[in-house]
Amino acid sequence: AAPLRVAVLGCGVVGTEVVTLLTDQADDFAARVGRPIELVGVAVRRLNKVRPGIDTGLLTVDADALVRRDDVDVVVELIGGIEPARTLILTAMEHGASVVTANKALLAEDGTTLYAAAEKAGVDLYFEAAVAGAIPIVRPLRESLVGDEITSVIGIVNGTTNYILDKMDSEGSGFDETLEEAQQLGYAEADPTADIEGFDAAAKAAILSSLAFHSRVSGADVYREGITDVTSGDIASAAEMGCVVKLLAICALTEPAELADGSPGERAVSVRVHPAMIPRSHPLATVRGPYNAVFVESRAAGRLMFTGPGAGGPPTASAVLGDLVTVCRNRVRGAAGPGESSYAQRKVSPIGEV
Ligand code: HSE
Repeated sequence: AAPLRVAVLGCGVVGTEVVTLLTDQADDFAARVGRPIELVGVAVRRLNKVRPGIDTGLLTVDADALVRRDDVDVVVELIGGIEPARTLILTAMEHGASVVTANKALLAEDGTTLYAAAEKAGVDLYFEAAVAGAIPIVRPLRESLVGDEITSVIGIVNGTTNYILDKMDSEGSGFDETLEEAQQLGYAEADPTADIEGFDAAAKAAILSSLAFHSRVSGADVYREGITDVTSGDIASAAEMGCVVKLLAICALTEPAELADGSPGERAVSVRVHPAMIPRSHPLATVRGPYNAVFVESRAAGRLMFTGPGAGGPPTASAVLGDLVTVCRNRVRGAAGPGESSYAQRKVSPIGEV
């Protein structure tokens, strides 16, 4: 059977892992998809960097030429950031490719444009790796729980800050040295300000609440406070009270406020990211190191908890490759995955109005 052609944009921590695993497991993926997957190119910023295990013949600096190829079935975007990622994704879709991306910043800033473009082109847009690394949470919210009414989503969704807070608590380590370790382990963003100031968690909170509440929430709608003001003194005081400090993303539907005529008003979405003290007995307190966890509460299912590795090359690659296999299967069957053609534009409430 003719192969499905895949192009990868970006070859950093996650991209390198994706390309390596895709090559190593080529036979397994062919069996799972029903057709071979052929990697046709990997767009990089610099050609001269040493990339062990990656076929240099695949590398190109011309990402634009890759996304303009009409014979490419799937583009995997792992560059991150807004531009050029957005233009490359939109161009790929216009040329008929489905897209797999881990780009939380772009989805949080301009998900509406990406969903609309995918819908228009009749292609897939999958992004399991954009939130909480290896943990399946996007698909459960987007598909498995879509028939239920989700009322809240609370998560530890940034591995770097959880790693730092955990080490400060368990080993009394300093902030700077622990951040450096997180960077060396490949957990932190290229600019770790996004982690420690809570921008990364806010982007993920926006994506989670958009899916959970069938709305459009952007990163700018999220109340955000990072961990840079958390001192070892704060952590020690929390410990004395039997608590740990965690950076939480809290997404909830507000209770409907009564209107002047006595009728119930509309429920709004409340989304915030800030450090919080939680008792050591709470399940979220047990989430260590770069692990993430997401709690979902819904009307019919009740309470669900998702937990696992939330950052790092191999765990994030697992989510990317799961999307890739799924999108390839959809292509083989000539069917698209979940569309996002309709949603309710809910009001986002300011902090405090939960
Ligand atoms: N910098 C992110 C984190 C990577 O620390 O969680 C995963 O999105």
